[in-house]
Amino acid sequence: MRKLFCANWKMNKTLEEGREFINNLYSNLNINSLSEKKEIIIFPNFCLLASLSKLINSKKYNIKLGAQNFFPAFAGAFTGEVSIEILKSVGAEYFLIGHSERRNIIAESQEFIDKKIRFALQNKVKIIYCFGESLEERENNQLEKSIKKQLEIVKEINISNNFYLAYEPVWAIGTGRRAKKNDIVEMIKLVEDMTKGKITSLIYGGSISDENIEELSQIDALCGYLVGSASLDERKFATIIMKG
Ligand code: PGA
Repeated sequence: MRKLFCANWKMNKTLEEGREFINNLYSNLNINSLSEKKEIIIFPNFCLLASLSKLINSKKYNIKLGAQNFFPAFAGAFTGEVSIEILKSVGAEYFLIGHSERRNIIAESQEFIDKKIRFALQNKVKIIYCFGESLEERENNQLEKSIKKQLEIVKEINISNNFYLAYEPVWAIGTGRRAKKNDIVEMIKLVEDMTKGKITSLIYGGSISDENIEELSQIDALCGYLVGSASLDERKFATIIMKG
């Protein structure tokens, strides 16, 4: 199974820092031993995409770029928004949808998120759809209800090579408190049940570090990792790629 190693930089890194990171990441990675089954994807802020894309192409680095967000319309009067077409034109190949920071801080509703999923799939781009429960939901036996609501959309769409599902428990994001192996294995089973076998593998995200990646790599049904804080440090992210 091909594994995705996603670096979600969120609202971090200037252009110079981004360029330096990519050059350093390559010098920290033992490229010869890097399996072809590992795909490295960096999600920088929008402003860095064009320049990082040029750097990657000119140095022939085996790295893909992704966008942390987009607006679900082709073009038009949407002040401050950015379309998939524009993002593709500056090098984005993957698109994040449903990240809990957009759900909770920017107040994106499930309805709007579903619209984004449909729009992106119609436009035939690769998407990583993030879902996960809050601590309150987990502690109050609302986990299944919450996940079911977020996965309702999966029933109606065609699952192709363009669609990845990322389990990101909200309580594990940026907290240093990672989901345990059992929690992840149980979630994979639950998703398989809820989607009637449509989805059998997940990306995991939430406090992944160079120290806990080895344990995560033992979970066979994980098809990738979505890394936040640890992806800002090229040495840590290189270790995650090597060991994951
Ligand atoms: P984290 O973030 O690795 O800092 O927990 C993960 C994410 O938000 O995708």
